[in-house]
Amino acid sequence: MSAYVIETVLESKTATRAFSFGHITDSHLVFSDATDDERKTKNVESRRGCFENPSGLSIQTCFEEQTTFVKNECDFALFTGDILDFPAKTSLAFFRDTMKDIPFLYAWGNHDWNYAWEHEDRALLPSRTALYASYGVENPEMRADEFGGVIFVGLNNTDYQFTEEECAFAEEQLKKGKDVIFYFHIPLYAKTLCPDVVSYWGKPIVVGCDEKGLSPVKPITDATVHMLNVLEKYRENVLAVIAGHIHFSHEDETPFGCKQYVTEAGCYGTLRRFSVVPKKGCESNVG
Ligand SMILES: [Fe+2]
Ligand SMILES: [Fe+2]
Repeated sequence: MSAYVIETVLESKTATRAFSFGHITDSHLVFSDATDDERKTKNVESRRGCFENPSGLSIQTCFEEQTTFVKNECDFALFTGDILDFPAKTSLAFFRDTMKDIPFLYAWGNHDWNYAWEHEDRALLPSRTALYASYGVENPEMRADEFGGVIFVGLNNTDYQFTEEECAFAEEQLKKGKDVIFYFHIPLYAKTLCPDVVSYWGKPIVVGCDEKGLSPVKPITDATVHMLNVLEKYRENVLAVIAGHIHFSHEDETPFGCKQYVTEAGCYGTLRRFSVVPKKGCESNVG
């Protein structure tokens, strides 16, 4: 396999056993078929050139290699969005067929649920959620799943914000006292992350950037501040924050004291294997 695998170990005080999952993000699958109109077909042509892999592998081959690795080496896949470059049925069919025997969790990326000219209109979400469900992707908007004593919480922050509903949901999960892994598309602001993001993208495409001289992509809302406060309040229970969107890998602590892991875009050939291991000496691991 030519895919590059970053190895990350998480020690959990509530994990009941060791397990692993493969983090894949920003694959940007670009497909079209004869049913697409002229605008969508042209979009495919222009977008395909944006994601050339240095090793010369196609986006599809990268995705197939990475998911085969997950199938053989991990318990499940965790997707943090932009797996599709836009919600084409051909791409969804490819995703469904490739993931046929592989369990996965999926959080929306901004590209997954809308075409560039739709400008992330939230009114589209119900129909796009239904479309994804018909291809086996269940609730990429907001969900919680427990695996081996650790809770995985997936949220939708594709407009650089969280909602009050997500705050309440996150707090409800954190109150259970188990370690929680949050996964969503857009990373949270971190001091060492911001300069690299600005030099790569020309603007701070992260959540909650408040650095002097840098205009945030969107001014932070009260609900997003609330979410950051919730994460800070329960930081002992936040095992990791996992995100994508910026297309390069980065690890750092966020200002509220939790470790954040961002993985390079899957279309460039990278995935990250997280190995969760029970922390020695924690009684809650027993049984
Ligand atoms: Fe992306
Ligand atoms: Fe994105």
